[in-house]
Amino acid sequence: VGKPERHVAVFGAGYIGLVTGACLAELGHRVVVRDIDPDKVALLRAGDVPIYEPGLGDMIARNKERLTFTLDLAETLDGAEIAYVCVDTPPSASGDADLSRLWAVVKSLEGAAHLKAVVVKSTVPVGTGARVRAALDAAGLAHVGYAANPEFTAEGRAVTDFLKPDRIVIGSADEATAALITDLHDGVDGPVVVMDVRSAEMVKLASNALLATKISFINEIATLCEKTGADVEEVARAVGLDHRLGPHFLRPGIGWGGSCFPKDSEALRQLASNTGYHLQLLSAVIDVNNLQKRRAVQKLHDELGTLAGMRVALLGLTFKPGTDDMREAPSTVLAARLLAEGAEVRTWDPMARPAGVEPWSSTTRHPTPELALAGADAAIVVTEWPQLKEVDWAGAASVMRRPVLYDGRNLFDPAAMRALGYTYMSVGRP
Ligand code: UGA
Repeated sequence: VGKPERHVAVFGAGYIGLVTGACLAELGHRVVVRDIDPDKVALLRAGDVPIYEPGLGDMIARNKERLTFTLDLAETLDGAEIAYVCVDTPPSASGDADLSRLWAVVKSLEGAAHLKAVVVKSTVPVGTGARVRAALDAAGLAHVGYAANPEFTAEGRAVTDFLKPDRIVIGSADEATAALITDLHDGVDGPVVVMDVRSAEMVKLASNALLATKISFINEIATLCEKTGADVEEVARAVGLDHRLGPHFLRPGIGWGGSCFPKDSEALRQLASNTGYHLQLLSAVIDVNNLQKRRAVQKLHDELGTLAGMRVALLGLTFKPGTDDMREAPSTVLAARLLAEGAEVRTWDPMARPAGVEPWSSTTRHPTPELALAGADAAIVVTEWPQLKEVDWAGAASVMRRPVLYDGRNLFDPAAMRALGYTYMSVGRP
């Protein structure tokens, strides 16, 4: 017999809120997702999903009896037993996370008569839960439990990650709340780890920082491989076979980006410095990542002699394939630097919708990689979209003004590309 169906109010119809809401509905709970953006709510009510995430649209459609979207606060709180806070916590000018949206949600909970627990899924600085707890107490909600329940889903895999996670982390000061949130996840295939609130908040930041560290580490080893003639792909493969190290997040590339690693690593660094401690390792991890993007442009500069007047094709714009997300995408840094050095930037991406702002308003978009490559002096593989494997690279070499290719994701075989006439450069391979 399954655990009781709960009535859940999800605040925020962004990436995490939608995935959380849809998956909780899929588990059998009644879910109301609230957002303050009327366009977003209208879109969701019409059956459209404003983000691209495999499986999410179908899941929302098949749970529409149990999953509703609203702008209205009273409708959201009506009968709600659990309030999930899934609003974004972007970095503020000071570097600290901007928690204003979270505080607005906490404030709005005052009239919730049936509320048993407030759960924060948003990524927040360690200590936020204690502050929310105090705010709830002050608002006459001392009987309502509090839990931190960080999310570890990766874009493009979010639905699977939610339903089959490596772990569910629940941080709470009281057993009843921990049990309530544990039961809420009945049907999820993964171990539940219960701990105190601050530790749960730290798990999220530490996990992302260590993942980013692995990538920056292998990127730095890749640079050294280039200087010594070793092949980083061989190195990473064998290093990853050590079960203590593992094969994941050892793919060298053009640098990590996205909505999480850059923001969370900065937030952790800031959190540390607020306590008077300078996180040395993490600072180096961030520096290496910035350098990795600069090195891509430097390599083209060295090869072409100058970038002024050169036509450079950027193949792939999103921070990784399988998403339309452009947040903190390395492509933005590359485009800005290329333009600053006087290059003409042409782009291709199957999903990205870069906003009409700088640097993108000064670039030209092409519907296929081939069209972006035609007449180019050089190209950079920025995102490892599978479509790039289907390109007629022999044909492209003959229509490029100069067949110079920097493969920032090690998608191609160096010998094969050189045989096609390319001046081929990649990351950490001879
Ligand atoms: C990341 C984490 O993987 C999730 O566990 C976490 O929940 C999420 O952030 C979050 O905090 O919300 P995501 O940003 O979607 O998920 O993307 P990843 O697949 O982790 O990739 C991040 C970046 O690292 C990308 O730019 C990717 O190209 C790069 N990367 C990844 C590498 O350069 N090499 C690798 O081996 C792996």
